[in-house]
Amino acid sequence: MARATSVFICSACGTEAAKWHGQCPGCGAWNTLAEEARAPAARRGGGGGAGRAVKPVPLSAVQAPRHARLATGIGELDRILGGGLVPGSLVLIGGSPGIGKSTLTSMALGNLQGAGRRTLYVSGEESAAQIRLRAERLPGAALDVPVVAETDLDAVLATLDAERPEVCVIDSVQTLHAADLTSAAGSVGQVREVADRITRLAKARGIAVLLVGHVTKEGALAGPRVLEHLVDCVLQFEGERERTYRTLRALKNRFGSTNEAGVFEMAGGGLVEVADASARFVGEATRAPGSVVLAAMEGSRPLLVEVQALVNPSEIIPPRRIANGIDRNRLALVLAVLGRHAGVGVGSADVFVNVAGGVRVDEPGADLAVALAVASAQRGVVAGDGERPIACFGELGLSGELRSVAHPDRREAEARKFGLTPVISPDGAKTLRAALRAALPSQPSARAA
Ligand code: TYD
Ligand code: MG
Repeated sequence: MARATSVFICSACGTEAAKWHGQCPGCGAWNTLAEEARAPAARRGGGGGAGRAVKPVPLSAVQAPRHARLATGIGELDRILGGGLVPGSLVLIGGSPGIGKSTLTSMALGNLQGAGRRTLYVSGEESAAQIRLRAERLPGAALDVPVVAETDLDAVLATLDAERPEVCVIDSVQTLHAADLTSAAGSVGQVREVADRITRLAKARGIAVLLVGHVTKEGALAGPRVLEHLVDCVLQFEGERERTYRTLRALKNRFGSTNEAGVFEMAGGGLVEVADASARFVGEATRAPGSVVLAAMEGSRPLLVEVQALVNPSEIIPPRRIANGIDRNRLALVLAVLGRHAGVGVGSADVFVNVAGGVRVDEPGADLAVALAVASAQRGVVAGDGERPIACFGELGLSGELRSVAHPDRREAEARKFGLTPVISPDGAKTLRAALRAALPSQPSARAA
């Protein structure tokens, strides 16, 4: 039979070209043509008449067997997945290099292997010896996991077919190479082809696949993004390599909620779940000017994190606005509202905002914490009574009002658990000015009357 050929498709307009061009012959966009494998034309048919009609079935008549989930033994991971791995499902784990993707997947396979499941670890990144060295540090049966160090897609598929593992890790999708495509491993066309063929085999054989993918800090690298619609779950591993804490969250989950997130710590013997992250972060909070505690939500769980700000005269124009753990644009908005509606102008000073521990909070409820931290830093006064950190949450509206956010009761309860009351929230304070008066009582701003 004729071998599959490849074509180049423009990601902007869909134009097909027989060979690669720098500029799309259809729409004129640059560098948008990506290689794709294409079945020989004769098999594809044309005009819509060559296909075979299939009979639709009422949903009530569809058989939907409930497979028992495969517990990875990592509580946080199982919870984020919605109760463990679903047999035959594809889970993409994205994250920047060094964050701990290989560690997490090795630990999960080790636990599954120890529980009597058939597993397979396919690595295109590291040699079997390197994987062994990592596994030696890990708990459980990590050393019993069978490994294959291979980058050729056909060889990997043949191995999966022969070994029939119940759970398999592909580390990483960017390192596998489909021989029918001439483009380099890791290119959009390759990544899509690799994922597509693995998906088909995994579905046919009921293999649960954990697909590891690299993403840059911006989360944009060609690769994982194009896979999101192919896979059942997308998990994002976040945090900074130099920091101990990492959060794992679900961005997409066909079998569970996307609201879940878990906190891990990288230790000497692999990743350790941080069951009570709030206690750690509150314990480490500095109680200095510029520090407040945000009662955040990590999925359906409340989490107390310290938000710190530093405001310092700048020597450069424009001054720096540095945000770690929160969105930069959100910081710009908070600074604008502070200046316009609460009389706290930072003018030409540098502003740094940091969520302690390398945690990322991407929710509007963080606005108030950022505003109070910046105001406290700018005035040089400690928020709250100086004994305990002050806890807060709430979204800032553009006219300086405080807006309610999801789960106020759970956030309050978590703060209460650590004695951080009263919590400053949209329930008590209707405006940013009112919140500032409550949080920084020692020096009420003259203008904040
Ligand atoms: P790794 O899982 O290889 O990251 P990724 O696959 O996402 O690129 O591990 C990341 C880092 O974690 C690596 O620098 C070594 C460190 N590490 C520990 O600190 N403790 C451990 O027990 C292990 C296995 C790794
Ligand atoms: Mg790795």
